Amino acid sequence: MTAVPPTTTTPDWWREAVFYQVYVRSFADGTGDGVGDLAGIRAHLPYLAELGVDALWITPFYPSPMHDHGYDVADPRGVEPVFGDLPGFDALLADAHERGIRVTIDLVPNHSSHDHEWFTEALASPPGSPARARYFFRDGSGPHGDSPPNNWPSVFGGPAWTRVPDGQWYLHLFAPEQPDLDYSNPEVVADLEETLRFWLDRGVDGFRIDVAHGMAKPPGLPDMVPAEDTGLFADDGPGDLRFDQDHVHALHRRVRAVLDQYPDRMAVGEVWVFDDERLSHYLRPDELHLAFNFRLLTAEWGADELRAAVEHSLNTVAPTPAPACWVLSNHDRPRHVTRYGGGEVGTRRARAAALLQLALPGVAYVYNGDELGMPDVDLPDEVLQDPIWERSGHTERGRDGCRVPVPWSGDEPPYGFSSTADTWLPMPPGWGPLTAAAQTGDADSMLSLYREALALRRGPAFRGDGVEWLPAPDGCLAFRRPGGLVCLLNLSPAPVPLPEGQVLLASGPVVDGQVPVDGAVWLSA
Ligand code: NOJ
Repeated sequence: MTAVPPTTTTPDWWREAVFYQVYVRSFADGTGDGVGDLAGIRAHLPYLAELGVDALWITPFYPSPMHDHGYDVADPRGVEPVFGDLPGFDALLADAHERGIRVTIDLVPNHSSHDHEWFTEALASPPGSPARARYFFRDGSGPHGDSPPNNWPSVFGGPAWTRVPDGQWYLHLFAPEQPDLDYSNPEVVADLEETLRFWLDRGVDGFRIDVAHGMAKPPGLPDMVPAEDTGLFADDGPGDLRFDQDHVHALHRRVRAVLDQYPDRMAVGEVWVFDDERLSHYLRPDELHLAFNFRLLTAEWGADELRAAVEHSLNTVAPTPAPACWVLSNHDRPRHVTRYGGGEVGTRRARAAALLQLALPGVAYVYNGDELGMPDVDLPDEVLQDPIWERSGHTERGRDGCRVPVPWSGDEPPYGFSSTADTWLPMPPGWGPLTAAAQTGDADSMLSLYREALALRRGPAFRGDGVEWLPAPDGCLAFRRPGGLVCLLNLSPAPVPLPEGQVLLASGPVVDGQVPVDGAVWLSA
C-alpha cells in the first residue's frame, strides 16, 4: 500500500468546496450485480470532474451484513466484497487525486455491526467481562430484569435495548444489529484512532463522522423525561439524553488531534443539533472542521423559512473558525425535488434552491442525483429494505425512496446504472429524460445548471464570508456576497423585476426583465 497524496497541497481546501455525496449502493455498478460499488465510482470520475466537484464523500463501503446498508460496520478497516477490495479503493483514490478530486469517507464510530468480532466476543462472554465493557450491556429493570434498563427509544422505532440469552440487555440507538460502543472505555477510543490512521495513511482527505453528536452517553444512562404535552420524547432536541452530551466534545478533540498529524485533512460531523450555540461547540478550533447544517434540508419552501435557515446557519459558525456547510438532500431524507412538491413545481423550486445553496458562503454538499433533479420514488411495500419499515411495524416507509440508483443513460431500467435490470432497488419507467446522457448538452437541463453554477462559483464574485441582505419584494430573498455576487430568490406568487447587475445565471427563463415564480438569479453588480 502506498499513500497517495493529492496533486496539490492547499491548507483549508475544504472551506469553499463542493462535496459530492456518493451513496455507494446507488451511484454506479461496475460489476453487474445490481449494487453500486467502488469500480462504478472510479469509472464515473470523468463525469464528476466535468461536473466540477472538489471532493467526494463516499458512504460506508466496509464489510457489513447490511442491516442498515453499511452503517452497520463489521470491520472498519476493510472493504465489503460487494463494493470491491482495498486495492480497488487505492486505485479509486489515486485516480480521483490525479483529477484533483479529494476523497473523504464515512466513519461510523457510534456503533458497530452485531457481526463485529468484538460483539461476537461480548455475546460469548459473561456479564461484567471486559468484552462486554466495549458496549453498553446492562441488567434489565423490573423484578426479573425483564424490562429494558431505561426508557430510551431507538431512532428506528421500538426500544433502544435488546435482551441476550443470559438476561442482560445491550443498547442500540439504531437497529438491534447496531450495538452502541462505549467510548468511556479507552480501548474503544484507541481502536477508533487506529481506524483513522489506517485510512489517513492510505491517503484519504477526510471523514464524514456518522452520529457525531451521539458518541457519548450520560453516566448511569438515566431515563428520559417525556414531554408533558405529548407524552413523546423530544426528537434529538434538548432533553434527549441519547445525544449532544457535553463530554462528546472530548472525543472530537481526540479525533482532531489525530487528523492534525496529517496535512490538509478534515472532518465533517453529522450533528443533529438545532440550538445554534450548542452546534457551534462542535466547531471549536480543536474539534470538527465542519458540521452539516441541516436547516436547509428541513426548511419548508418559503421566504421566511429559508431566510431563517440561512441566518441560523451563519449565526452558528460566526463564533467559530468554521465556514457554514449547506445540505439540501442526503440519503436519509426525501429528496428536495419531492420535498418541494414534486413534478414540474418541485423541479423548478429545486433549480432555484440549487442556486441558493451554491451562492451561500462556505461548503456545499450535493447528494448524488441532485444534479439530475432526481425525485424520490414511491416503491412498493415488497421491495422496501430500510430497517425503519420493519421496526416501525410498517407505519413508516423509511428512506429507500431517496436511495434509488442513479440513471446514467438509455430509456429503460437500469438506465446504464448496471448491466442487470435486477437493481437492488427497482428503477421506475420514464426516467429516460432524467439520465445524465439525456441532460448532457441540453442547455436547459438540471445537469447543465449545476455544471454552470459550479464553474461560476470559482470566480471572484463568490469570495468572502457572510451575506448582506438586500431589500427585496415581498416573498423574495436577496443578498450580496462580499465579492459582489447578488442572488435573488423569488418565492412570491408573481414574477418580480430583476435586480440591477449583469445576469450570470438564472434557474428559469427571465422574460422582460422579470424573475419567474420559484426562480432564482445570480448577478454580478
Ligand atoms: C446516520 C446515517 O446517515 C444513516 O443512514 C444511518 O442509518 C444512521 N446514521 C445510523 O448509522
